[in-house]
Amino acid sequence: MRNDLRRVPREAGFALFAVAAVVLLAGCGGPYPQSALDPASDFATRLDDLFRGIFFWAVIVFVLVEGALLVAVFRFRDREGKRRPEAVHGNTILEISWTLAPAIVLVLIAVPTFRTIWDVDRPTRDPDALVVEVIGHQWWWEFRYPEYGIVTANEMHVPVGRTIDVRLTSADVIHSFWFPRAGGKRDVLPGHENHLWFTMDSTGVFPGQCAEFCGLSHALMKMELVASSPAAFAEWVAVQQRPAVGTGAAPVPADSLAAVSEETLPGDTLSAELRQILETGQQKFLQSGCIACHRIAGTPAAGVLGPDLTHVGSRRKIAAGILDNTPENMAAWLRDPTTVKPGSLMPNLNLDEDTIRTLVAYLESLK
Ligand code: CUA
Repeated sequence: MRNDLRRVPREAGFALFAVAAVVLLAGCGGPYPQSALDPASDFATRLDDLFRGIFFWAVIVFVLVEGALLVAVFRFRDREGKRRPEAVHGNTILEISWTLAPAIVLVLIAVPTFRTIWDVDRPTRDPDALVVEVIGHQWWWEFRYPEYGIVTANEMHVPVGRTIDVRLTSADVIHSFWFPRAGGKRDVLPGHENHLWFTMDSTGVFPGQCAEFCGLSHALMKMELVASSPAAFAEWVAVQQRPAVGTGAAPVPADSLAAVSEETLPGDTLSAELRQILETGQQKFLQSGCIACHRIAGTPAAGVLGPDLTHVGSRRKIAAGILDNTPENMAAWLRDPTTVKPGSLMPNLNLDEDTIRTLVAYLESLK
């Protein structure tokens, strides 16, 4: 065995190690949309500062300990003709130092850690904080804005520079709310309200996801945090507060019709023709069982088990952030939700293609 090993050239071993290290380190290249090391809020910045501080001390400890180990290994290794190093018992100065040094390092880590935990857990005193109620569901996120009377799903909109007062509960099992660039995780519990406060300092779209195993489609329970300027946020609020624009709920404005993709519409996009399709789509929606779980403000649809669809056409993604909101994806979702999201509570309603086409046109018109 010993001889076999010796036949492997040492250079080959080093080369293999180098290649493996390069491949491994390449994974750290980024950019990662869900990196906790790229903070975009006050909370995330606190965590990042804490991490960097602890990492600094960890590197010092690592270098000292591993350095001492290497010195011992090479200096006192077994060599032919060399006598064994002398065994030493008891050295008061050494023993005091290696007890004191780690204790000091632990204090240097513990003080900022406790301070950060204390600070991020302290309720905000900002009277102007924006309250967002977050409700975890298997497997999607509900966001409620009591101040504005808005209910939306899977897409949390916030203005930069304003404290966000997040209040978390669950409709079923334990989930965990986590936007890595906005701050730390918080468990989302049934029957208990948890809290989280942060203020975004950068605009952008920040992905997040459920961070607590919650069943079959836990990994597909995603969401997006859309942080925008106060003006853009006010614009979003105004749009969400409007009645849904599909037929029945309100007159259909031309701009929302234009947004309905041509693939979902037969022939030319005459307004009367479109109106007819959307009307049919709404009828199908009200007749196909969708209303058992979904609400569309201004229509008889008032279900509460599934996402509120009043402005579903305005969202970036569907099915809890796993599909871009395109007519094709919407059609695929309606065709068989459980293929897209295993275990989904939305059943396969065995809709025919004609119904799916009109439903997609209607839903995408709900801007
Ligand atoms: Cu919800 Cu995992």
